Parts: sequence; structure tokens; C-alpha cells
Amino acid sequence: MTKIDQILEKDKFNTDDLIKLLKTEEEEKQKLFQKAYEIKSENVGTKVYYRGIIEFSNICRKNCYYCGIRRDNQKLDRYKMTDQEIIEAARFAYKSGYGSIVLQSGEQSNPAFSEYITEMVKRIKINTDGNLGITLSLGEQPYETFKRWYDAGAHRYLLRIETSNPDLYKRLHPENHKFKAREKAIQDLQKSGYQVGTGMMIGLPGQNEKDLVNDILFMKKRDIDMIGMGPYIPHPDTPMADSMGDFDEIKSDQLELSLKVIALTRIILQDVNIAATTALQALDPVGREKGLLAGANIIMPNITDTKYREGYKLYDNKPCIDENSGQCKNCLERRIDSLGEEIGYNEWGDSPHYFKRTDEDRENFG
Ligand code: 5AD
Ligand code: SF4
Ligand code: FES
Repeated sequence: MTKIDQILEKDKFNTDDLIKLLKTEEEEKQKLFQKAYEIKSENVGTKVYYRGIIEFSNICRKNCYYCGIRRDNQKLDRYKMTDQEIIEAARFAYKSGYGSIVLQSGEQSNPAFSEYITEMVKRIKINTDGNLGITLSLGEQPYETFKRWYDAGAHRYLLRIETSNPDLYKRLHPENHKFKAREKAIQDLQKSGYQVGTGMMIGLPGQNEKDLVNDILFMKKRDIDMIGMGPYIPHPDTPMADSMGDFDEIKSDQLELSLKVIALTRIILQDVNIAATTALQALDPVGREKGLLAGANIIMPNITDTKYREGYKLYDNKPCIDENSGQCKNCLERRIDSLGEEIGYNEWGDSPHYFKRTDEDRENFG
């Protein structure tokens, strides 16, 4: 038995074990992926659940150094989809059997935006017979706003921590973007009742294996239900454009590291939902399939109107820019079929972890 076999057989891992697993190559890496796939099959099954993502506006008040739609990027036309377009996209998801949608945009925070989203959530519910699950991904907000949107009918929220290392967070963001505020927002979301998703970027400049292991342990400790994470990919119109040297040369390393982090996250967190994010496909035409094989179980098909897709490039080389929602639907169906996995049409595919968490809470407080 190799050292890696021995580590993979343990019930509890220490940080050193986890770092060793992140450094695996070739056959040992395949063993890591196999173990993650076994744990996925046992805990969440091999059905892939869809969340159709509507990127309804690229207007953002923030200025994250890595992001293509940051406020100071002026090479970009700012857009907002009309109410009708948003509802049409939601109806497309519903009619196509996608159990849920994600409403995502750049971060805006003001009473009018809070009111707008509240109404939109209600209207989407009404227009989909109350059946479509709604996830929000709209950045940091006051507790009251989170609560309002939850009460309107949204039941999941995505807010990435980006990195659990506060120093690295500082290097990726302007001074007024606070790590502590992000942490508090995640706690507020949990308090509001949402299933809460977070995640990080993988392979950031200045990030090491230990940081990534700490990210995974952070998500475990904070009882996170869903995870969306992916490779960092430089965007040419950002302050971090040249942060990785010749990116083409390290693309495949970046992908492999991301897959190993997905596998390790599945092994450690077990019963959560993990997305095979679109950024994986920016690095490899079959990146998302590889993500599913490394332990992910969620896919977020893009259902944004094609005419807006060019305007929502957070990173370079984003796929599906010219395709429409129907084309992505067929394309993904083929891809998932090729893995021998099934699609959970017309199901919400909630995170099993969330329900266990509330059961435990009830026991503790009841
Ligand atoms: N590379 C990879 N992911 C990025 N994001 C933003 N910019 C990039 C980039 N250059 C991710 C962030 C954010 C999510 C919506 O997109 O993690 O939370
Ligand atoms: Fe805005 Fe989010 Fe991009 Fe930061 S990562 S600039 S908050 S869209
Ligand atoms: Fe969009 Fe393949 S998923 S074209």
C-alpha cells in the first residue's frame, strides 16, 4: 500500500495528510478522484442537479482586483435585462425541467434594489406555478435584505468567501472590501434560513496548498451546505491581468489543482452540493465533466439571453458566449450522458447537509 492509500483509508485527516492529497499526481491523483466519487455516490448519489443561471446585470459597485466586471472596468457596456426577459429565462428553465434557477448580478445594495429583487422573486414564483427553486447570488447585503428575499421565496444563497486567508483577501480587494464583512454576511444568511453556498478561487497568485486546505476546513467548520469554487483565470482588463505570467503554460496545472480541491472537499464535507463550475470549462473543453468525476454533483447551465453574455465575462475565455439556452441544454445533456450520470429533471436537488443540520439544531435547541 502506498502512503496515499493509507491516508485515504483514514477516518480523520490532519492538515499534513490533506496537503499530501493536494500534491498527488498521476495514479495517486486518480485514487483521490475515485475515493471522492465513491463518497459522492454514497452521500448525494450520481444524479446531476441543474441550476439555470440568469446573469441579469453586470452593474457592480465593487472593484475586486480579479474580476472582469469590476466597477472601474470601462471597456464594458453595462446592462440590465428587462423584467420580461428575466421572467422568460425563468420560464425557460421551468419548462425545460431545470428544478431551480440562480439569479446573479454584480453587487448593488440600496433600498430600490432590495425592493426590486423581492418583487422579482415573487413574480418568478407566480410565473412558474410556485415550483421553481430560487437561489440568489447578489453579494453582501444587510441582514434585513437577506431576510426579506428569503421571505419572498428564495431559499438558497451563494456568496463566495474567495479565500479564507484574510491577508490574501486583502491583496485581492481594495481596502474597503472587508473579509470580516463577508464572514458576517455568511452568518447572516445562515440565520435567515437559507441553504448557504460559498467557495473560493483556486490557484490564486500567492495562495498555497495550506491555504486551500484551510479553505476546505473553513467551509466544514461553518457548516456550509453548497459549494461553488473554480480556478482563478486572469482577465485582461483587470489589475491582476499579468498576475500569473504566461497563463497558457499553467492552464492544465490550474485545472488539475481545481479538480483535486473538488475531490478533497467532497471527501471532507461529504453530504454537501458541489458545483462543477463553468470556469473549469474555460480551461478544458471537458472541464465540467471532469469536475463531476472528481466529486461535484451540480451544473449551472447558462440561461442568460445570448445578447448579454459577452457583457458578463468575469474571467477570460468564458465558454458558451455565442450559444443560446437551448443549445447549452442539449450540449450538457450529451456531456452528462457520456459519463453515465443522470440529470435530476424537475427536482430541486437540495443539499442533504442542510436538512441534517436543522435536525441537529432542533435536537440541540428543542
Ligand atoms: N477567475 C475566476 N473566478 C472569478 N470570479 C470573479 N473573477 C474571477 C476570475 N478572474 C468569481 C468570484 C466570484 C464569482 C461570481 O466569480 O469567485 O465570487
Ligand atoms: Fe463585483 Fe462580484 Fe466581480 Fe467583485 S467579484 S467586482 S463583487 S461581480
Ligand atoms: Fe453551453 Fe455546451 S454548455 S454550449
